[in-house]
Amino acid sequence: VSLDSGVAAPAAAGSPASDIRAVTEQPGHLSDRWNLQAKDWITWARAPGHDSYWRFHRDAFFEFLPPPGYRTVDIGCGEGRVTRDLRKAGHKVVGIDRSPAMCSAALTHPEPSRVILGDARQLPLPTDSADCAIAFMSLQDIDNMEIAVKEVARILMPKGRFGIAIVHPIYSGGGFADAQGDDDPFTVKKSYFQSTPCSPTHAGGDLTMVFHREHRPLRAYTQALTGAGFVIEQLNELTDPDKPEPRRGIPMFLDILATLRS
Ligand SMILES: C[S@@+](CC[C@H](N)C(=O)[O-])C[C@H]1O[C@@H](n2cnc3c(N)ncnc32)[C@H](O)[C@@H]1O
Repeated sequence: VSLDSGVAAPAAAGSPASDIRAVTEQPGHLSDRWNLQAKDWITWARAPGHDSYWRFHRDAFFEFLPPPGYRTVDIGCGEGRVTRDLRKAGHKVVGIDRSPAMCSAALTHPEPSRVILGDARQLPLPTDSADCAIAFMSLQDIDNMEIAVKEVARILMPKGRFGIAIVHPIYSGGGFADAQGDDDPFTVKKSYFQSTPCSPTHAGGDLTMVFHREHRPLRAYTQALTGAGFVIEQLNELTDPDKPEPRRGIPMFLDILATLRS
């Protein structure tokens, strides 16, 4: 797929970009689960004003990013909402996702994105081919995330920037009891330090969505970044401003901007 051509189609079977079997050993792969429920995600992500992306997270994340440069890669792009917004903001962007259903949705949207079907842990892109990468709400959904972070370091040029948004590790490591009252406690039931697969269900309006992810402590991300040669420049913690206290007092998301050392 030429990165400088127009809309990229999912790679043909047998090409390096589609050779995702090489990293598909374990059953229940997180991206297989995302692929199976792509329809739900597309409805959730595209419902106007529904998700935190539209309500507050997109604006905070985009303020964080460097200005458009040579090429931006959107890792785990899903149905393409961030890819489309990056393009509107002037980025020359290509999205990567391991789910065929998500790639297909991004390609067939009225504003089609350039996307490549591929695994974040084996990026179908040349070394030193981008100056910016982002992973918006996807690293916690990627198995062996540290391999994906190394891959991002490989495809970035020296001094390239990597913008990440994840579920805040304290938020994925615990939960509120069912009650909504003022004394509704937030508890960490299992060890915060233990990486654990989890599949919380979130409901909002008429929509319900299961989020398949792995809870990991913050240090799993900082170690993956520094181990791959990144320096963490900025870190931001966000909460949902529309939630009542005490829910508003617990951070929901963590955004990180990192720069490749050389
Ligand atoms: C919560 S969705 C986020 C999509 C998009 N970034 C957004 O915010 O709209 C997570 C995405 O990560 C993708 N994903 C999970 N594992 C992956 C992997 N190993 N390689 C590439 N994409 C992966 C899933 O297919 C899914 O589309």
